[in-house]
Amino acid sequence: MRSVRIGLLGCGTVGGGVVRLIAENAAANAARVGAPVEIGPVLVRDPGKERVPELDRARLTTRPEDVIDAPDVDVVVEVMGGLSPTRGYVERAIELGRQVVTANKMLLAMHGPALVAAASARGVDLAFEASVGGGIPIVRVLRDSFASDVIEEVVGIVNGTSNYVLTRMLKDGLTFEAALADAQAKGYAEADPTLDVDGFDAAHKLSVLAMLAFGGYVHPDAIPTSGLRAIERADHEYAARFGYVIKSLAIGRVVGDRVDLRVHPTLVRRESTLASVVGVSHAVLLQGRALGPCLLTGRGAGDLPTAVSVVADVLDVARAKVSGQTGLLTKSLRTGQKPTLPIGDVVGRAYLRFSVYDRPGVLARITGALGDARVSIGELVQDGGGDADGSPVDVVMLTHAAREADLTRALAAIEAGADVARPPKMLRVLGER
Ligand code: NAP
Ligand code: HSE
Repeated sequence: MRSVRIGLLGCGTVGGGVVRLIAENAAANAARVGAPVEIGPVLVRDPGKERVPELDRARLTTRPEDVIDAPDVDVVVEVMGGLSPTRGYVERAIELGRQVVTANKMLLAMHGPALVAAASARGVDLAFEASVGGGIPIVRVLRDSFASDVIEEVVGIVNGTSNYVLTRMLKDGLTFEAALADAQAKGYAEADPTLDVDGFDAAHKLSVLAMLAFGGYVHPDAIPTSGLRAIERADHEYAARFGYVIKSLAIGRVVGDRVDLRVHPTLVRRESTLASVVGVSHAVLLQGRALGPCLLTGRGAGDLPTAVSVVADVLDVARAKVSGQTGLLTKSLRTGQKPTLPIGDVVGRAYLRFSVYDRPGVLARITGALGDARVSIGELVQDGGGDADGSPVDVVMLTHAAREADLTRALAAIEAGADVARPPKMLRVLGER
């Protein structure tokens, strides 16, 4: 049997890791697949750049057709990122009957249903373990291991860059900018790091997770998303006073025949397992109807952790090719549109931080507006003692469970008052309804 040949689209952080793992584990890979697995042509933008030493530079090309159209390429591995020209390359690879592996959550979140349909019609596999959770095997677990259960909830720390930035700011006192630059230098961030810190990468991953967990597709534009730029050191300190830490979470729940999907900074109980997930680690907490809770955690970004997932997919789809059983992975995916719960209907506790001028009646006005909107206060602290110098003070509270639409109405009424120095800040609290 001839070798199984991989065509690589991209050889940056993840692609370099893939080349290294394929080289390091050659004998085990061949035994598993039933044929040697080798790197064929490798598409890059700049062939003059330094690459991992395991790469034979003679493989480099800047012509996509050298990879996609080469008749001896069995598996096309897309680790370029982005939508254009990537989408066209992946579509062409499928059309030509190549097995395809991708780490590109943005591509899957935006165009997953069409790509799955094309792969299914062509009888090839589209594998994407690395698109969520880096090295954590979450895609396989949802697609295969839990095929026998009904998943009711998925809560994830699915952006390693955000978790790394939050951790470095909190534990090492780094500024947001310094922490992000460090995450970029370590290869964790997307080429455009706003995707990480503004929550969009997590929303892309949540769209992929929802397809696997809840059996349907939600476009990322329908996922309310906020990032972590607004989180200040003071928010971490107030959260700690209430017994919480702030994490950037992707949350998905089944609510009747809809799904509630959102990405936002969230207060989680200090003693919870999610609170202990720090640095670049990812974690996904699943709730199966029969199984109950199940937590998967591990390194969620970086060259080798991500390559572990990409190469595992390569071995799966290569084995399918060798045994003439292609297309089974893709056939099990369900991509029909899934209706979503409007964010205003979400019920939960909230952290509210007001910056107010400490004048008689201000607290009564705030609590009155919350009361009018049927929002009840659980705990409250006021920092600072009077505004002798005219500067505002913080009033911070945790509410009892409230409907988000009611909270939003109350916050708008409070913000309209002359005694409020800046717009109120609202963060959700995990899981206490
Ligand atoms: P990267 O380091 O920026 O590498 C991208 C590679 O693609 C580079 O080799 C680049 O060529 C090549 N490339 C990009 N656009 C191209 C074009 N138009 N034509 C030809 N080549 C092109 O990115 P990465 O971090 O490896 O990420 C790759 C994918 O994996 C993305 O979808 C990302 O979201 C996903 N992912 C990344 C991680 C992670 O930890 N980094 C984890 C999970 C998933 P040059 O080298 O010549 O510039
Ligand atoms: N930029 C992503 C992250 C890479 O930080 O999690 C892994 O998908």
